Amino acid sequence: MVDVLLGLQWGDEGKGKIVDFLAARYDIIARFQGGPNAGHTLYINGEKVVLHTIPSGVFQSHCLNLIGNGVVIDPVTLQKEIHKILPLQADLLQRLYISHRAHLILPTHRALDAASEAAKGSEKIGSTLKGIGPAYMDKTGRNGLRVGDLLSPDFQKKYDKLVLKHMEMLRQYSHKVEWEEWEAPFFESIEYLRNLQIVNAEYWLDMQIKDGKNILAEGAQGSMLDIDFGTYPFVTSSNTITAGVCSGLGIAPSKIGDVYGITKAYCTRVGGGPFPTELEEETGDALRKAGNEFGATTGRPRRCGWIDLVALRYAVMLSGVTKLIVTKADVMDHFDPVKAAVGYIIEGKETREFPYDLCATDATPVYETFAGWEKPISDCNTYDELPHVFRDYCRYVENYLETKIAYVSNGTGRDQLIVIP
Ligand code: GDP
Ligand code: IMO
Ligand code: MG
Repeated sequence: MVDVLLGLQWGDEGKGKIVDFLAARYDIIARFQGGPNAGHTLYINGEKVVLHTIPSGVFQSHCLNLIGNGVVIDPVTLQKEIHKILPLQADLLQRLYISHRAHLILPTHRALDAASEAAKGSEKIGSTLKGIGPAYMDKTGRNGLRVGDLLSPDFQKKYDKLVLKHMEMLRQYSHKVEWEEWEAPFFESIEYLRNLQIVNAEYWLDMQIKDGKNILAEGAQGSMLDIDFGTYPFVTSSNTITAGVCSGLGIAPSKIGDVYGITKAYCTRVGGGPFPTELEEETGDALRKAGNEFGATTGRPRRCGWIDLVALRYAVMLSGVTKLIVTKADVMDHFDPVKAAVGYIIEGKETREFPYDLCATDATPVYETFAGWEKPISDCNTYDELPHVFRDYCRYVENYLETKIAYVSNGTGRDQLIVIP
């Protein structure tokens, strides 16, 4: 069976930490979408590591790790990441597999991302500028280069043809990007990438499933950044929901088991786009400070607000979440009261339905208010030690979302996780 772990909000829910913990029970961790726009933070023996492309199972030494066909790979970022991890995990390369079908991010994809964002002016998405959108556009436009192409004698020819096309496109933008200097490191890194374990991943996974291996599919970004169901156009360019696991790894829907959905006890978003429960003043600043909400990939301050159960209910529905995980509950130790959006007022009517175009909809949140916890969650190790008010809050969330909470996370460390019965 293949279980799934994904973010239910706008990313940065703490997926890296949770995958690193859960990986103890799995044989394989497989990334199914996204690319170096992701930043998954892990603390290994107190040392902070941020992963962008490599699955978060690398620090459990029995775990194999697959970068699936749905991922877009920047060879330079991948090589840098490998070099960062190798001193900590000497056998990393023996445990890392890459799908032939994963697409490559070229230097000109990054240039196109930068030029396109600059042209949007105040309407900009707030992209991480890692070349994600342009690389997925070439994938669906049937022009892209894949990891398997690296093994073809025609690679250089294919590369030159695509770069010529990109140069034409870049000429249409007034914003100029000096991408040429990115080419030499790119070619060095693809030499390196050629020697990694490149596999027919869908067959490889099928064989592992038939051998009874346990697989966890690791998502990047979050459900509200999904290309189809997120707050379009302020989204990323891949399917971040459970459906993305099937197309991003070549796994049949009937093989999907549990779906772990992760939410913070509050909500953050980095980049542009609608965010109904955003807190722009002191409470927002206090949340950012208490939660240390600065992007793991870009360092940008994250926008902060109350948890949004309307959006979460939508995300739970889209992915068929079977187990919820609430992270950063300790951050709420600093707040009294704690609020949760339980409806939106749209055109004078209260609804629990997430609107089709949140960008063009004036949605005012309706809040349920909870008293602050009577003692700090950061001090708790078991369910019985959790403050009563927090336990009531968990039951409220479970009832609203009609889904059980499996764990509450109360710190950055691998073991700072409380099982909820
Ligand atoms: P990801 O992209 O979903 O993996 O999340 P990020 O790594 O981008 O951001 C999550 C941040 O919260 C990281 O800095 C984590 O170390 C941190 N974190 C994760 N879980 C907890 C928690 O329960 N409490 C606190 N205080 N921090 C956490
Ligand atoms: P993880 O996996 C938070 C956001 C960007 C921007 C939008 C599009 O760490 O949760 P893109 O670079 O994909 O073109 O950016 O999506 N974004 C993320 N926000 N966490 C992420 O990943 C994100 N990946 C992309 O900020 O608003
Ligand atoms: Mg992140």
